[in-house]
Amino acid sequence: MVFCGDLPSFCLERWQSERETRARILLSESGVEPLSLSLLKEFGVNVDLSSVELGYGWTKGSPSLRSAIAEYYGDAVTREHVLVTVGSSEANFLSVASIVKPDDAVVVDMPAYMQVHGLLEARGARLYMAWRSPENEWELPLVDILEFIRAKKPRAIYLVNPNNPTGRIERENVLREIAREASKTGTIIVVDEVYRGLEHSGPPTPSIISIAIEEGAAAVSTGGLSKSFGLPGLRVGWLVSNKLELVEKAWSVKDYTTISPPRLSEVVAEKVLAENTRSRLFERAKSIVRRNIEALKRLLEKNKDLVKAWWPEAGAFVLASLPWAKDTMHIAERLFTEYGILVNPGECFEVPGTLRIGLGVEDQDKAMKTYRELLSALDKIKSTMNKKEAGKQATSLTPL
Ligand SMILES: Cc1ncc(COP(=O)(O)O)c(C=O)c1O
Repeated sequence: MVFCGDLPSFCLERWQSERETRARILLSESGVEPLSLSLLKEFGVNVDLSSVELGYGWTKGSPSLRSAIAEYYGDAVTREHVLVTVGSSEANFLSVASIVKPDDAVVVDMPAYMQVHGLLEARGARLYMAWRSPENEWELPLVDILEFIRAKKPRAIYLVNPNNPTGRIERENVLREIAREASKTGTIIVVDEVYRGLEHSGPPTPSIISIAIEEGAAAVSTGGLSKSFGLPGLRVGWLVSNKLELVEKAWSVKDYTTISPPRLSEVVAEKVLAENTRSRLFERAKSIVRRNIEALKRLLEKNKDLVKAWWPEAGAFVLASLPWAKDTMHIAERLFTEYGILVNPGECFEVPGTLRIGLGVEDQDKAMKTYRELLSALDKIKSTMNKKEAGKQATSLTPL
């Protein structure tokens, strides 16, 4: 297992880690505003943590929490198919470390949260970027993916669904076709499903696990409580697979990373996942995001040349293009240093000319004020750029 020293800098996480505690206005989060233990009571979660023994617990995760996670996946799996991790980021890490070897061909979703890309690069895998395009409403390039699977028989395909940063939910038939093809070549489909539950309308995103079972493919789903549940500080995530051997392999890598999940968080997580609580938390998240989308839409109506958004189907963020700027890393840096506003530059997703803006602020007045400040700051920055510079900067990525 070689990663040490070869990991590229993780642009998005570095960008945030170095700035988020100093930002006056935080619009860099991709989930909804976090809840406290006392606020969780309003959602039916009453926990007394005082008597919980602070041992290592079960290194795979407590049996009751694993059963609760299995239940979240419907009838598709049992707790034997579940490994509890420290955030979905650990689950992603374990999946790469346990599935991919140097020189393996691997398909990766683009644009996407770049964690697995960095890990795969360090691992020495041969990456095939499956680029989504705005002209196709950020749909996965299905034909290219199917051709690549047929031609190269990749070891794995890594997707993020719902997708960060585009907010696109992939259609079930597309996932099904990928699963059908992957079943013929033994390609493992790994889908980061951490934004499941945060669909703004319509039914929940189907998990890759049930689709893979029906199509005879091997799949891994990673997820956790950080986004749709609004509980990133619990650091609870999971890795679920329909193939027991993939869970066992990931578990054996966990011996080298965190050994076991945080015990106190496990106790809270189990309550949070109870169906009644879970659905109320998802409703909370959806209503925050829906309100903020409406607010931002109203403001952007009057600022059409300043910011153009690709309205998302899921997640607590919106990807937006600045038609007057290409170097959005520079714009994001100016927003932070001159105005104390933190958003994410599209460069961290390899989509220059764009910004990812958070939609997770709970208080409606605060959210409105925040978006007004952001637009006013962007307007001022735009006006300070001379015409020549702006022309050179103009992006070709424009929402339809
Ligand atoms: C797609 C995706 N996966 C994983 C993570 C990491 O989340 P966690 O807090 O569950 O480790 C993020 C965080 O932004 C994300 O966007």
